[in-house]
Amino acid sequence: MSTVISATDIVKEYGNLRAVDCVTLTVEEGALFGLLGPNGSGKTTMIKILTGQITPTAGSAAVLGIDPVADPVLVRRNIGIIPEQETPPSFLSAMEYLAFVGAVRNIPDCEEKADWWFDFLDFADKKDVLCKDLSRGTRQKLMFAQAFIHEPALALIDEPLINFDPIMQDLIKEYLVDYVKNGRTIFLSTHILEVAEEICSEFAILHKGKLLHCGPVAELTKTGGDLSSFFLSLVRKGYHA
Ligand SMILES: Nc1ncnc2c1ncn2[C@@H]1O[C@H](COP(=O)(O)OP(=O)(O)O)[C@@H](O)[C@H]1O
Ligand SMILES: [Mg+2]
Repeated sequence: MSTVISATDIVKEYGNLRAVDCVTLTVEEGALFGLLGPNGSGKTTMIKILTGQITPTAGSAAVLGIDPVADPVLVRRNIGIIPEQETPPSFLSAMEYLAFVGAVRNIPDCEEKADWWFDFLDFADKKDVLCKDLSRGTRQKLMFAQAFIHEPALALIDEPLINFDPIMQDLIKEYLVDYVKNGRTIFLSTHILEVAEEICSEFAILHKGKLLHCGPVAELTKTGGDLSSFFLSLVRKGYHA
């Protein structure tokens, strides 16, 4: 098994605020890794650093062996990303957006693959609709499709389930669990603990930028614990720290 993500002593400061405070973690190939934490704990900041969208104040990282500070474009070429709060371009239709992604990523048979995604996420009727006229949930389906259409070895997905109804959430969860079976890796951030407990193999807990815990989900459930109480007890302790 090889290491897909390694982050060492990552710090990100905004003025006096330490959004990420000396975080060290590794993610192995084949993991469905959940980064958990309350709102504002630094999850999105961490994902932005690992995907070369922002530069850390200190520390270093390697993502698929690439340094995201030195070579952010190369990192992004090799991964899939669902950013937290972005929507596809308003002036393109759903199909045009996936064709655009296909051209940028040089994806063979992109139209066929796009059609598979339209069917799989049940929005084929929207493929010629301009993104500005799509519902939030449909835009999220499109963001999901663009992150996985090239079947990356690693996808970093930030709160990917947030705009989906329970049926779609189930479909996506099943897809993610299946996705990592062939040695591909997912790094997922969420504040929904049930999601992590249900599908993640490993998890880390961030609180106020600090890493409070990192380890396999099975280790926790083996001892009869559940992730929600574990999370709450750690985070509550953190509040008083
Ligand atoms: N560009 C920015 N400028 C200033 N503060 C920021 C910026 N981005 C994030 N923060 C702050 O950093 C902290 C962590 O934010 P974020 O990583 O978005 O948390 P999470 O994704 O866990 O909700 C928050 O306090 C947030 O307000
Ligand atoms: Mg976030």
